[in-house]
Amino acid sequence: MRIIVANDYDEMSRKAAHLIASQMILNPESVLGLATGSTPIGTYKELIKLYKDGVIDFSKIKSFNLDEYFELPKDNPQSYDYFMKANLFNHVNIGEEDINIPNGMCENIERECNDYEKKIIEAGGIDLQLLGIGRNSHIGFNEPGEHFETNTHLVQLDEDTIEANSRFFDSVDDVPTKAISMGIGSIMKAKKILLLASGAGKADAIYDTVNGPITPKVPASILQLHPDVVIIVDKEAASRL
Ligand code: F6R
Repeated sequence: MRIIVANDYDEMSRKAAHLIASQMILNPESVLGLATGSTPIGTYKELIKLYKDGVIDFSKIKSFNLDEYFELPKDNPQSYDYFMKANLFNHVNIGEEDINIPNGMCENIERECNDYEKKIIEAGGIDLQLLGIGRNSHIGFNEPGEHFETNTHLVQLDEDTIEANSRFFDSVDDVPTKAISMGIGSIMKAKKILLLASGAGKADAIYDTVNGPITPKVPASILQLHPDVVIIVDKEAASRL
């Protein structure tokens, strides 16, 4: 694991965007794994700037998002589909057919999950997976548990995650309790992983990810076994390292 400590959120975002941009320049047909939440918003802003400055081109890029809320329509402003359009896709030249996000409104959950895994394989696998991390150390929506879920699956969200994500909703009761998420196995198959964390609220999760035992109780700890992980954290998230 390579750990880069940035002074603040903006520096973390710039460094992350530059790493993603390098991947896109080296391979303009890259398959990117993308995340939602507060953490990558600054990174996406920087990527949009780099695109507008002619440094990067999304025309041959394919993307796969980590997760989507279950039974939340795409046009709901809290859906991850809506988030990705608002924060990145509507501002760059990625083809609509190259965007992949689990369909939270699917009729057959098993088929949706299997098809999502198949599509990733058919695209040649993920070249660079961007991750945030939950306060409870979840990656994607792989919550702490007794075992690592391998493939894309339906998740029952933890109380802590529902509470953390309620900041985006009118009330905690509006937060969906389930989501479709890529599994730990799907994430670990990515050729490179870039994990971002910002703020004191993530300091324990980052400490346990880097130093703790590898256990499904700390889902991100599995990243210790991946051969190519870069973690970019701001000073506050690095405060226990
Ligand atoms: C989002 C995702 C989650 C978030 C995590 C941190 O697609 O998979 O694992 O990365 O919950 O969220 P923020 O960045 O809002 O603190």
